[in-house]
Amino acid sequence: MSTNRTFTMLKPDSVENGHIGAILEKINAAGFRIVAMKMTQMTQHDAEAFYAVHNERPFFGELVKFMTRGPIVAAILEKENAVDDFRTLIGATNPEDAAEGTIRQLFATSMGENAVHGSDSDDNAAIEGAFHFSGREQF
Ligand code: RTP
Ligand code: MG
Repeated sequence: MSTNRTFTMLKPDSVENGHIGAILEKINAAGFRIVAMKMTQMTQHDAEAFYAVHNERPFFGELVKFMTRGPIVAAILEKENAVDDFRTLIGATNPEDAAEGTIRQLFATSMGENAVHGSDSDDNAAIEGAFHFSGREQF
């Protein structure tokens, strides 16, 4: 298993607000290589499975509703220390706490609608990448 990859989604708010290009610029400028990418829309079943770890949390229903309301851009990114460096690039979950210049500080509007997803571990990066991409969609 590769340990230099992470998985991201540009969430429905980013797509709706026309921020795909600007966010991809930030990702490129930070030195990530795009290994796989697609525009897709998660079904309720997809979102419930993807975020199963949060299914007991009070915000779960809201999260599933948000993540299914429009298309997303899913991507696998490659870079040394990809998981940690990407979490640094996106900033804190709540944009009010996100550091200056981070993607969430620049593009997120709230804790729930926070522009981007970033995997939180190498294991989850592999699981989440495989959720969205077959082997032949990864370059
Ligand atoms: P993500 O998984 O999307 O990269 O975000 P994260 O690690 O920073 O945050 P996590 O705790 O994994 O939460 C997943 C997503 O659930 C929504 N959320 N809403 N309203 C709330 O209190 C709340 N808390 C979390 C966010 O969309 C968060 O990114
Ligand atoms: Mg998370």
